[in-house]
Amino acid sequence: MDAAVSPAASSLSDFVRRLPKAELHLHIEGTLEPDLIFSLAQRNGIALPYASVDALRQAYQFNDLQSFLDLYYAGASVLITEADFYDMTMAYLQRAQYDGVAHAELMFDPQTHTGRGIAMETVFAGMARALRDARRLMGISGYMLLSFLRHLTEDDAQATLDAALPLREQYKDLWIGIGLDSAERGNPPEKFARVYARCKALGFRLTAHAGEEGPASYVRDALDILGVERIDHGVRSEEDPALMQRLLTGRIPLTVCPLSNLKLCVVQDLQQHNLARLLRQGLMVTVNSDDPAYFGGYIADNYIASAQALDLSREELAALARNSIEASFLPDEQKRALAASLDAALAAA
Ligand code: ADE
Ligand code: ZN
Repeated sequence: MDAAVSPAASSLSDFVRRLPKAELHLHIEGTLEPDLIFSLAQRNGIALPYASVDALRQAYQFNDLQSFLDLYYAGASVLITEADFYDMTMAYLQRAQYDGVAHAELMFDPQTHTGRGIAMETVFAGMARALRDARRLMGISGYMLLSFLRHLTEDDAQATLDAALPLREQYKDLWIGIGLDSAERGNPPEKFARVYARCKALGFRLTAHAGEEGPASYVRDALDILGVERIDHGVRSEEDPALMQRLLTGRIPLTVCPLSNLKLCVVQDLQQHNLARLLRQGLMVTVNSDDPAYFGGYIADNYIASAQALDLSREELAALARNSIEASFLPDEQKRALAASLDAALAAA
């Protein structure tokens, strides 16, 4: 049944949207909706290989991570000017606010843009202006996580860091961390050991994708070799019981993205997703949208679809929201304030 017309589902939707939450696993280039891709292409005089917005949307059928990445990088090629990065980021923040997001940590892939001749400054400036406007006008806080593309070399990642560092002071309220994304299999964490060591020494917060398509050993190596504080995805950790114990006792967050895992065939059916099992074992799991324009849902859709497929109770949904606040890179004082607003929302629910 269409969730929008079922009374039970619509109250679930209200409940989820009213929970103050953090989104911790979101690729800003993955929020480019087909209509925005078309309007930016038109604004920039770029010809697209699709006849219409619908034809582009129809192409969103993926059988693995790589089949998605090919379209995702092609979609990002319409981003040229500071205004393009602003419009993309602001559209996401407005949508996120509707879903009850109080704080968002946005991954962005500068190499996707600098490799096409776009200046690093253009990427930072457009995203930062939207994030600062959202903080001032909408009360949403946000951070930027510069993510290295793991299918490229570590030297390329080092050069990207070199190009971004002169901007650090100007964007120090926003650019607080780094990530690692793109094709996981065959690009293990150790490939980026030196650039991560450098980022750690520079005081950046560290996260990395691991255990999405890659094995549980990549999660372990992301922790041991890269020194990350949280793991993006990590759903394959379950294949290693000792690793599971470590995630549990260390309260190491996993930023899980259920609709992404479904669309990229990491799971065949949402009912087979291990989110509920991980949560019920006490792991610090969070729910996020990854690339919502491509995977059929923003963060609240991920909460709702998971609740319906896995029979998550309202207490469990609230626990996921609480975990997202705890697992964020916010200072403790802001975490406490957000947790108090979650308590207030629950008391009023
Ligand atoms: N880049 C954007 N989305 C991604 C994902 N789900 N995994 C790896 N890299 C990505
Ligand atoms: Zn991701």
